[in-house]
Amino acid sequence: SGKFFVGGNWKCNGTKDSVSKLVSELNAATLEPDVDVVVAPPFIYIDQVKNSLTDRIELSAQNVWVGKGGAYTGEISAEQLVDIGCKWVILGHSERRNIGENDDFIGKKAAYALSQNVKVIACIGELLEEREAGKTFDVCFRQMKAYADNITNWTDVVIAYEPVWAIGTGKVASPEQAQEVHAAIRDWLKTNVSPDVASSIRIIYGGSVNAGNCADLAKKEDIDGFLVGGASLKGPDFATIINSVT
Ligand code: 13P
Repeated sequence: SGKFFVGGNWKCNGTKDSVSKLVSELNAATLEPDVDVVVAPPFIYIDQVKNSLTDRIELSAQNVWVGKGGAYTGEISAEQLVDIGCKWVILGHSERRNIGENDDFIGKKAAYALSQNVKVIACIGELLEEREAGKTFDVCFRQMKAYADNITNWTDVVIAYEPVWAIGTGKVASPEQAQEVHAAIRDWLKTNVSPDVASSIRIIYGGSVNAGNCADLAKKEDIDGFLVGGASLKGPDFATIINSVT
């Protein structure tokens, strides 16, 4: 539901030169008009990208501080993202949960970012052992509840379902596996937030999406776009994924 949304999470990759090359590729690409496109460079390159990338593509951070800026060494605040024209932030990514960010902290980050008009790509997803133990829905719903306990207005939120076993492994979820969880998340939102939010929110899939597997995933009813890691570092591949909108 909603406009197809494709995000590129560059993670901790790149140099000034490689970023410049990727920006040139993206500027040269022909992109379907009816798709929201966002890229998330490492903080240190956001300004470079902002100053060289076409306005067709919006900028995202990969993390943000939980509140107003101040004496927080090493952090970047939502106010600073706004200041440099960065409109989005990715939160709850498994690579940050993995180093100690918990559900509640992530929920609070989401609430503060939204309060400053920074839009949120809210990630959730289960580990392989959780899937194998039949706990996929429990984990995803627990992570969703932490967002719902903190978020009051969902207009500027995109949910990214990223099963951890599919991230950076080359083991993409099958379209059926992804659709099953996306439908369950939408259903959870219907019951626990509102039918309106459930039907309008974008639920995007992430985990080993590439130019070859995106089209089949994009056909699924509840898959409203993608959050792409590795393949977003190659301009032509990222363009193919953007253009897989159906
Ligand atoms: P990969 O596409 O490299 O598997 O990464 C997915 C991801 O974590 C996007 O946030």
